Amino acid sequence: MPQTRDDSNASPVEPRKIYDLAGLTSIVTGSSRGIGAGIAFELARRGANVVVNYTSSASQSLAESVISTIEKCGSGARAVAIQANIVTTEGQNKIVQAALDLSKEGKINIIVHNAGNADDCYLPDVTEDFYEMQTDLNVKAPTFLTQKVIPHMPRGGRIILVSSASARMGVAQQTVYAATKASNESFSRVWATELGQSKGITVNCVNPGPVATDGYFNSTQEFLDDLKPLIDSTPAAARVGEVRDIAPIVGFLASEESRWVTGSTISACGGLIFF
Ligand SMILES: NC(=O)c1ccc[n+]([C@@H]2O[C@H](COP(=O)([O-])OP(=O)(O)OC[C@H]3O[C@@H](n4cnc5c(N)ncnc54)[C@H](OP(=O)(O)O)[C@@H]3O)[C@@H](O)[C@H]2O)c1
Repeated sequence: MPQTRDDSNASPVEPRKIYDLAGLTSIVTGSSRGIGAGIAFELARRGANVVVNYTSSASQSLAESVISTIEKCGSGARAVAIQANIVTTEGQNKIVQAALDLSKEGKINIIVHNAGNADDCYLPDVTEDFYEMQTDLNVKAPTFLTQKVIPHMPRGGRIILVSSASARMGVAQQTVYAATKASNESFSRVWATELGQSKGITVNCVNPGPVATDGYFNSTQEFLDDLKPLIDSTPAAARVGEVRDIAPIVGFLASEESRWVTGSTISACGGLIFF
């Protein structure tokens, strides 16, 4: 049937609901700190229940403080902290079960693949262990965690991958990190196709530039030195990003407002590189 003109364009824009994710349940991997914690707050601020995930015992108190901030934010969102290594089947099952327990309807509406570890390593120093650590975290874990989430994700579901501007930059010491982050962009395109018309799910990727988190400040001095001139000439401002520069983009992608955006990669780097 031919498409007809959409007269709804002439209607006034509906005012934005504050709690536009109320009643939905989300998973944010790696959300004890940094960008993931900011995303967990953003989704909860909009009303979504959140599974806050982390892996190291040292981060338990950080994860608990994320939960306590969420519970005080006034949106009615509920949250649970789950210590689980997303690389393992056991860890993936634990996270999915926690989300199903948190949801009143046994559904998982949003998953944000955020956990990462930006270790730097020149090509001659790359070991098989290092290669496996990065590919496990950035390629294997999102693949198999998504596979486990899909049966519980209703139409309107949202899959968001936190990749990196590094996927396109060519900065030294990022052979494996950059390649695996580029795979996240590919996931968003392939999964957008596979899960779009058939399941009503959108899939998108967000690529932050450098952001002031533990992950960034743990980088090697050579890496930080290489980035300095780029940061100084960043068009939006001569600074690294802040968590609050990234989290609202993920909030938008998780919402109904983004329903016509899928398979895309959104640059979140102040114009450090253009794409
Ligand atoms: N910061 C940047 O400059 C920057 C730039 C571009 C892209 N990114 C990407 O943004 C994401 C977040 O970066 P960030 O800087 O906020 O990281 P971060 O401060 O280093 O925090 C990493 C988070 O991931 C979790 N994590 C690591 N391995 C895990 C595993 N196997 N299973 C479960 N959780 C795991 C950590 O848990 P624990 O607390 O238990 O260790 C922590 O919650 C990453 O994907 C990163 O590649 C960051």
